[in-house]
Amino acid sequence: MRSTALGFGYGEVRTPTFEHTDLFVARSGPAIVDEMYVFEDKGGRSMSLRPELTAAVMRLYADRLTHAPKPVRVFYQGPCYRYERPQKGRYREFYQFGAELIGCPHPEGDAEIIALAVRAIQAAGVPDPVVRVGHVGALHALMDAIGVEATVAGQAFPLIDKGDMTGLRTLFDQRDVGYEAFQVVDEFVAASGDRSVVDHVMAAYGHYDGLADALSRLGEALAQLDAYEDLGYTVDLGIARGLDYYTGVVFEVDWEGLGAEKQICGGGAYELGQIFGLDNVPATGFAIGLDRVYLAVETAGGEEEVARTGALVVPMERGGEVMRLALRAAETLRGAGVRTELEVMRRGTGKALRGADQRGHRWAVIVGTDEAASGKVALKDLVSGEQTLVTPDQLAHL
Ligand code: HAM
Repeated sequence: MRSTALGFGYGEVRTPTFEHTDLFVARSGPAIVDEMYVFEDKGGRSMSLRPELTAAVMRLYADRLTHAPKPVRVFYQGPCYRYERPQKGRYREFYQFGAELIGCPHPEGDAEIIALAVRAIQAAGVPDPVVRVGHVGALHALMDAIGVEATVAGQAFPLIDKGDMTGLRTLFDQRDVGYEAFQVVDEFVAASGDRSVVDHVMAAYGHYDGLADALSRLGEALAQLDAYEDLGYTVDLGIARGLDYYTGVVFEVDWEGLGAEKQICGGGAYELGQIFGLDNVPATGFAIGLDRVYLAVETAGGEEEVARTGALVVPMERGGEVMRLALRAAETLRGAGVRTELEVMRRGTGKALRGADQRGHRWAVIVGTDEAASGKVALKDLVSGEQTLVTPDQLAHL
């Protein structure tokens, strides 16, 4: 995943594991406190273990990167903490790999972030990830246009996120939102399919205030995404996302074999600049749950055999010319980028070679007294069994 992100031109950043609670409350509202590990430090300050990294990355941007050339492309990985009931695929401490694209106002940015997420997931060996793309702004605009109050809409989003339409119906009943409004939302969030769905929805709902803009942005982003080869997705206007800061195109990636906790990635366009006093900073990003990726790869049985590449250097004496030559061989190999271990257990050649094989090495370099006298070492290819005498310098061209 890291090399995929580097290949897209993203640079790695690190942020602290704990932060002032305010940072998270400012971006997601006070309800987020229930979902976090919150504690008071010795100075009486309220601190929290981070539930995610997006807010901290945005602060990093506000502090250090506002003058950097746009767009700013960063990625990260590390542990996150959420106060939840643990179950398979849902943990209180888990790992995320994520990326943020900051300062790009165009649909190419939406498409790039989705493509990067999918390519990283594919690179990790997850077969057939299922990608769904929607637009939370469209859902907000719809609710607004049919007269659902902001507070009710705020409660409706988590229900829509879970696909709990019975819960939504009950909520609307309790809050005196008419059945017709429920029907409109129910039908809208059920819209799913290929890019043409956006046109159908536009024809049916485009007259509502703000909806046409949101839907045409979604259409533009999908047109960009279509230009990436073999990157399949489904339009899903029911994506509501759990976190509050999303404003535009949003997406989720599932791996069906995981059951209840099948979502391996979530992300989308958001506005967080204002909490750091910055206006108009368009941003989009995603985070992948690494624990779920491991589970998926394990379940799919897709772990590929790791290619044999490394070397073990075996000195037959512990000092003098033999050791000097052995270390020169090891350093030359390392300099050439070969993972190289030195035999430090004083094993004989036979045992050392078996050990090299078990540790997945491709080569063994044996340095004996006779070879050392001629300035050479024995290079054994553990796959073919072939053995040749070479000088340490020749090891640079394995
Ligand atoms: P999120 O959907 O809350 O988004 O989390 C992203 C991913 O982290 C989920 O899809 C899931 O795979 C994994 N995850 C979340 N909670 C747990 C848990 N308790 N145990 C195991 N895995 C978990 C975010 O965090 C946003 N910051 C993504 C983003 C970045 N949006 C814009 N930029």
